[in-house]
Amino acid sequence: MNAVFSGIELRDDIPILLNRLGLEGKGIEIGTQAGLYAQVLLGGSMLRKLCLVDCWDLVEENDRFRNDSAYSHEKLRELKRKAEERFRCEPRVEIVQSFAHEFSATVESESLDFVYLDAAHDEESVAQDLQDWYPKLRKGGVFAGHDYLNNEPWAPTYVKFGVIEAVSKFRMRIPDHEFYTTPEMIPSWMLIKP
Ligand SMILES: C[S@@+](CC[C@H](N)C(=O)[O-])C[C@H]1O[C@@H](n2cnc3c(N)ncnc32)[C@H](O)[C@@H]1O
Repeated sequence: MNAVFSGIELRDDIPILLNRLGLEGKGIEIGTQAGLYAQVLLGGSMLRKLCLVDCWDLVEENDRFRNDSAYSHEKLRELKRKAEERFRCEPRVEIVQSFAHEFSATVESESLDFVYLDAAHDEESVAQDLQDWYPKLRKGGVFAGHDYLNNEPWAPTYVKFGVIEAVSKFRMRIPDHEFYTTPEMIPSWMLIKP
């Protein structure tokens, strides 16, 4: 294991990793919900900007939800309001309501120091996020994501998590990248773009 990952045991330690690597530019969280993890990222890191992207919406495609949070429209509106209230006085935060794929087209290549994926968790959606967001990361930046799991489908949306499959397939294209997962119940994965 690369020494830079030593002691990174929880996703809440990721700000320590960013600080070790001297990453102080712009980060992005894809899938922010009410902003709880974004608060951890802001609290511990030196990032000058953190863009928070969430659709706060449901899309039903082929009888399945691409947004696996399974919340009603009303609940999603409330989560958005909470995120906005939480960061009202935080000049480092930019909140964007958009589907991740659509928004990625507006972001410059190699402009981000940190990308954290935590939106939809089915294999197809994660594969799309990996493909869309890796090019946005600058060299030396950290690419990471939550829920490194392959859970079986569960109610009410019956979405099968495919994060491990999607990330493993993606990694075959970039075998030289340092890769690490946090040793916790719900692991986060991460790699550094060389
Ligand atoms: C697991 S929650 C995020 C939790 C948050 N990262 C945290 O740890 O506090 C997933 C969020 O991703 C959003 N989401 C799902 N699919 C999305 C997509 N395709 N584009 C943007 N946001 C999406 C959902 O609305 C939901 O709020």
